Amino acid sequence: MRGQPERILIPAAEIERRIRFMGAEIRAEYPGQTILLIGVLKGSAIFLADLARAITGPVRFDFIGASSYGSRTASSGEVRLTKDVDMPVAGADIIVVEDIVDTGTTLDFILGQLGRRGPRSMKVAALMDKPARHQRDVPIDYLGFTIPNEFVVGYGLDYAEDYRALPDVWVLGE
Ligand code: PRP
Repeated sequence: MRGQPERILIPAAEIERRIRFMGAEIRAEYPGQTILLIGVLKGSAIFLADLARAITGPVRFDFIGASSYGSRTASSGEVRLTKDVDMPVAGADIIVVEDIVDTGTTLDFILGQLGRRGPRSMKVAALMDKPARHQRDVPIDYLGFTIPNEFVVGYGLDYAEDYRALPDVWVLGE
């Protein structure tokens, strides 16, 4: 049915397994260091909550908000900041946390914003990547799943603000 979750693309148990692996991978690269996770609102909130606990050890987190002007499909892709981080980024080891990379416009903009504030290191963790839709070259250092070009909801992702709290990732009906 149109606009409703139709089938599960990634079951919750698989997401959990993958995030546990990503957390261990991240911690291994920052032994003993405090990592500052910066989640991109709102979709990344649930992923960030699980990833932060999977990393174990010293982790801090904060959020940043961005929104695109006009249509998401527009290639002009103008983005503006709707909420800035509260914590200082200079000198910090930051990991930008995204639920999904679609065109790459949002991530490209946020990396530009944060990068010029002088973090000690800056990496990207994304739960899902849709390479078929990329319009920008964006680095993803830690990736959960590569997915096909389908509209997905659940685990933080919405359709008109609904379905964010679904534990699994679903494909929305045509
Ligand atoms: C989604 C997603 C990413 C962005 C990816 O956010 O969370 O931030 O779009 O798209 P892009 O690669 O084409 O820029 P959205 O703007 O839907 O806001 P939300 O997270 O609050 O749902």
